[in-house]
Amino acid sequence: MSIPTSRTKTNGEIHINPELCKGCRLCVSVCKDFNLAIENKKVVKTATSIFGCIGCGHCMAICPNGAIQITGRTMSPDDLYDLPLRKSAASYDTLLSLLQRRRSVREFKDKDIEPEIIERIIEAASTAPMGLPPSDVNILVINGKDKANAFAKDFSQYLKSLKFMTSGVFLTVMRPFWGKENDEMFRGFINPLFKAYIGEMEKGNNYINYDAPLLMYFYGTPYSDPADPIIAATYAMIAGESLGLGTCMLGAVHPFIQSGRKAKKFREDHKIKYKSREGLFVAFGYPAVKYAKGIKRTFASVETL
Ligand SMILES: Cc1cc2nc3c(=O)[nH]c(=O)nc-3n(C[C@H](O)[C@H](O)[C@H](O)COP(=O)(O)O)c2cc1C
Ligand code: SF4
Ligand code: SF4
Repeated sequence: MSIPTSRTKTNGEIHINPELCKGCRLCVSVCKDFNLAIENKKVVKTATSIFGCIGCGHCMAICPNGAIQITGRTMSPDDLYDLPLRKSAASYDTLLSLLQRRRSVREFKDKDIEPEIIERIIEAASTAPMGLPPSDVNILVINGKDKANAFAKDFSQYLKSLKFMTSGVFLTVMRPFWGKENDEMFRGFINPLFKAYIGEMEKGNNYINYDAPLLMYFYGTPYSDPADPIIAATYAMIAGESLGLGTCMLGAVHPFIQSGRKAKKFREDHKIKYKSREGLFVAFGYPAVKYAKGIKRTFASVETL
């Protein structure tokens, strides 16, 4: 057995070169799948792992002697790279400054995003942690203001076809099934949102993605951990900020394009390959506004046990 993903359904293969192994146990300690053990001062494969090798690559990344290699599950020794030096990495202070400077930007200059910037955003986002390797996150890149606007127009038309969801009768019928909080969210948030997205688009105002010149949609597959696309989108957003872009997460598209025949057609029309429990659009563009101050944020609660 192995853990299935959309990309692979086989285990990783472990290749050990006993001549290079010094028996230091580093690989054994990082393999939480119990694939490895030391016998006669050399690493060996066990027959008692939990899942079979998940192809995380940690053993080959930590071995100081190149004595262990992993292939399969999309992994290969070519995936190893030299670690950047600590002194070239962001300090807490520089990272915090970057994070504190970020605002959700919804006013963009009419300027395309260079292809190398898009590549760099994706490269940074690809370092995001994932529930299980290999990442089952997909990215749809909608590059160019015209394409992003066409997408928004199509989405507003699509929402129009779902307008029954905002009717009083529908909400009253649904309330016992989906509960008080959902009812409140629909009445207080989703209904006015539908109105603004559809009504403003009819007046020529794009309140869906704000005329951004670049959209990226991060979504998973039926196999992926729902958090994976969200984490990747967050990394992409921070990378965008570091590259001088303004960014804004757009949470109101994904949930509406998951269920039903119309949603399937919408996904197919826009080359979205899978439905997924979670997903997130991020808008990017050169900001047309500059904030004079930051805004302090707090969490709903922080309890220490
Ligand atoms: C999951 C998520 C979904 C969001 N969806 C939208 C959206 O659809 N439209 C929008 O204008 N802003 C959206 N935002 C941005 C938030 O409104 C914004 O982060 C919040 O108002 C705080 O502002 P700040 O990001 O400048 O700190 C979203 C943010 C998150 C984290
Ligand atoms: S980390 Fe490398 S040298 Fe150390 S036990 Fe594992 S394979 Fe052998
Ligand atoms: S790739 Fe990961 S799961 Fe496989 S043996 Fe190495 S550390 Fe263990």
